[in-house]
Amino acid sequence: MAAIDRLIVALDVNSEERAVTLAEKLKNDVKFFKIGLELFSSTGPKIVERIKEMGCDVFLDLKFHDIPTTVAKAAAAVTKLEPFFFNVHASGGYDMMKRAADAVGQEASRLGIVKPRILAVTILTSLDEAALKEIGLSADPAKAVLRLAHLAKRAGLDGVVASPSETKAIRKELGGDFLIVTPGVRPAWAVSNDQKRVATPEAAIKDGADYIVVGRPVTESKDPAASAREILKEMKI
Ligand code: C5P
Repeated sequence: MAAIDRLIVALDVNSEERAVTLAEKLKNDVKFFKIGLELFSSTGPKIVERIKEMGCDVFLDLKFHDIPTTVAKAAAAVTKLEPFFFNVHASGGYDMMKRAADAVGQEASRLGIVKPRILAVTILTSLDEAALKEIGLSADPAKAVLRLAHLAKRAGLDGVVASPSETKAIRKELGGDFLIVTPGVRPAWAVSNDQKRVATPEAAIKDGADYIVVGRPVTESKDPAASAREILKEMKI
């Protein structure tokens, strides 16, 4: 895959107008956008349609986590929007993930559309060992990430969202056919913002990321398209 197919820009803004303006500026250099909780909650599902109408793919980052029936129904509803990716929390358990995967498969074949790929969020990178203890989880985060990635694969999910510091180990453990989408990527010239463990585009790809997610270095740039082109170059593909 070419670099342009592997760069996902996070549209972390709070209105349809802002998101579309940004995507319009970027659409010659970026073909894949992430829509997260803020934007989706601000606009509703129509933003997915707007981005897809521009000929771009969508990663719908809503991180479902509920009882299996509820997540399966939400997954079927999301399938109709035809995102390329959406995600669920692996800590929702095997049944929740399996039911989501089954529901997506059924709904996609009923509608005759391409099945969205489902990614698992393992352990949120904002949770360190102390924070995990506080919620009653005493496992070593690095081990828990691998355990949950295996569980997601067994449940029929297509891949995981993983921080740069986890990417290498997941690639080694889970093999080549499990997708890894890596946020927390910072090009050499960008500040790290509130991201603690960052990697350059080149390092993330070398470590085994199939896709990288970049937000603020592009969206807050004076020239977002030029910044995106720099990142594509830095991916060295
Ligand atoms: O602006 P920045 O490049 O930090 O944005 C990264 C995007 O990836 C944000 O939308 C953030 O919510 C998301 N993300 C992340 N770290 C994770 C999972 C998702 O930064 N572990």
